[in-house]
Amino acid sequence: MAVFQLLLGLGANALLILSVFLFIAFLLYCLYIKYMHMKYDHIPGPPRDSFIFGHSATLSRIMKSGGNVHEKFLEWSETYGPVYRINGLHLVTVCVTCPEATKEILMSPKYPKDKFVYNRLFGLFGRRFFGLGLITAQNHELWYKQRRIMDPAFSSLYLRGLMGIFNERAEKLMDKLTEFADNKTEANMLHLLNCVTLDVIAKVAFGMDLDLLQKSSPFPKAIELCLKGMVYYARDLFFEYNPKNRRFVKDVREACDLLRTTGAQVIQKRKTAMQNGEDVPKDILTQIIKTAATEENMTKEDEEFMLDNFVTFFIAGQETTANQLGFCVMALGRHPEILEKVRKEVDDVIGMKQDISYDDLGKLVYLSQVLKETLRIYPTAPGTSRQIEEDMVIDGVHIPGGISCMLKLTFDSYVTGRMERFFKDPLKFDPDRFHPDAPKPYYCYYPFALGPRSCLGQNFAQMEAKVVMAKLLQRFDFTLVPGQTFDIQDTGTLRPKSGVICYIKHRK
Ligand code: HEM
Repeated sequence: MAVFQLLLGLGANALLILSVFLFIAFLLYCLYIKYMHMKYDHIPGPPRDSFIFGHSATLSRIMKSGGNVHEKFLEWSETYGPVYRINGLHLVTVCVTCPEATKEILMSPKYPKDKFVYNRLFGLFGRRFFGLGLITAQNHELWYKQRRIMDPAFSSLYLRGLMGIFNERAEKLMDKLTEFADNKTEANMLHLLNCVTLDVIAKVAFGMDLDLLQKSSPFPKAIELCLKGMVYYARDLFFEYNPKNRRFVKDVREACDLLRTTGAQVIQKRKTAMQNGEDVPKDILTQIIKTAATEENMTKEDEEFMLDNFVTFFIAGQETTANQLGFCVMALGRHPEILEKVRKEVDDVIGMKQDISYDDLGKLVYLSQVLKETLRIYPTAPGTSRQIEEDMVIDGVHIPGGISCMLKLTFDSYVTGRMERFFKDPLKFDPDRFHPDAPKPYYCYYPFALGPRSCLGQNFAQMEAKVVMAKLLQRFDFTLVPGQTFDIQDTGTLRPKSGVICYIKHRK
């Protein structure tokens, strides 16, 4: 009994000391937040929801209700101008729409990707995810080494050679759509387009035959889970500690494991083929293997590094293109006159031909405009962010340089693409904005980001998108099933919420 009382006594004292310690730590942290407010509060911005959490409550309310946070950023940009500030804990985000600053910062290798966002994408709930691959690498040398080695797999010469696969996989979609047309059933276009783009990247990048329009595979679900997980993980620091989310977190971890173990098998198979002197394609997989060290001194970290890029290409190279195609079908379904015009161009250029050639793609000028306009209103990967260490002045506003990862500058293509200031009547879907003779948008249109860290797969994605759209327009009439929403679902990347449900008919 006496021992129990002693323990209790000690426990109470320890508890008191701990409470005092926590209270002081909390006070110091609040002082630090106050310091950050004082340092950056001269930058205009919306009123904070709370001292500690800043604007997080507004943003998490939008996310929880299935809304699109970029709409809020647009509203704030319109209200507070080309440079405005938001806070969350001690972190400060400066949102920039000023074209000059966008040019200066995104076009220069001087400003690295910001540590807070991109370090967080290193892993997902304790599992390594993008790691130090091409998207997340912040160290310039590490990134540049990878980019230089990957470049040949995206040269126009190499991309030309992919036309066969683009045609072949898009043809499988046409077969599937034939079934929908014959059976007069509604088609979830976004789902079908996701199958095609995943089939394409798996085949082109890694030599894997998924054939998702015919066979089932755990990959689409795994990618979906990882994408969802990325958003919660990056935007909500406490998500994984909420017991309600335990099941979801476990599923995301398993999805990461699936991607990485598959990656390890695919890489091993290719390495063996290379060692045996077999003739292997100069594809993304071969280049990924080259980004790691040479065979003799391959370390565990090198192996992980290759898997980082396997995951990077699987995720980056698929969903964004499928969503662009989904939005494009949705926009054409809503604008019959534009649909008619682009269909006429496809008929003129492609006619009854089955295989689309690289040269045909160059002649599909209006289709290019339609795809560009789609990404203006619906940029499927809407933002990027950078770090500045030294003070800057943007549009007359002084931005004090940040300490490590406390300050980030964000650039949001959704916001600039929908501002009257840059695009007259911005909500109007008008492909003529991108007519070859029209003035080019000046640093306010960047769905593939800009500068050295811009999308490596831009040409790949647009070739693939053109082949799929051209075949679709050539063969089928599609109409949107009435009553569906045209809303955008913000899952980090943007996608059409409805899934773009269509009736499909054969063209006469
Ligand atoms: C419509 C389709 C696509 C869109 C809208 C898009 C958009 C973007 C954006 C905005 C970035 C910059 C990300 C950031 O700053 O954090 C990016 C980077 C990247 N994308 Fe894409 N992307 C698309 C398709 C693809 C495809 C098909 C591939 C590969 C086959 C790909 C591979 C990459 C890679 C490797 C990077 C990192 C580049 C670097 O930092 O060096 N993307 N993409």
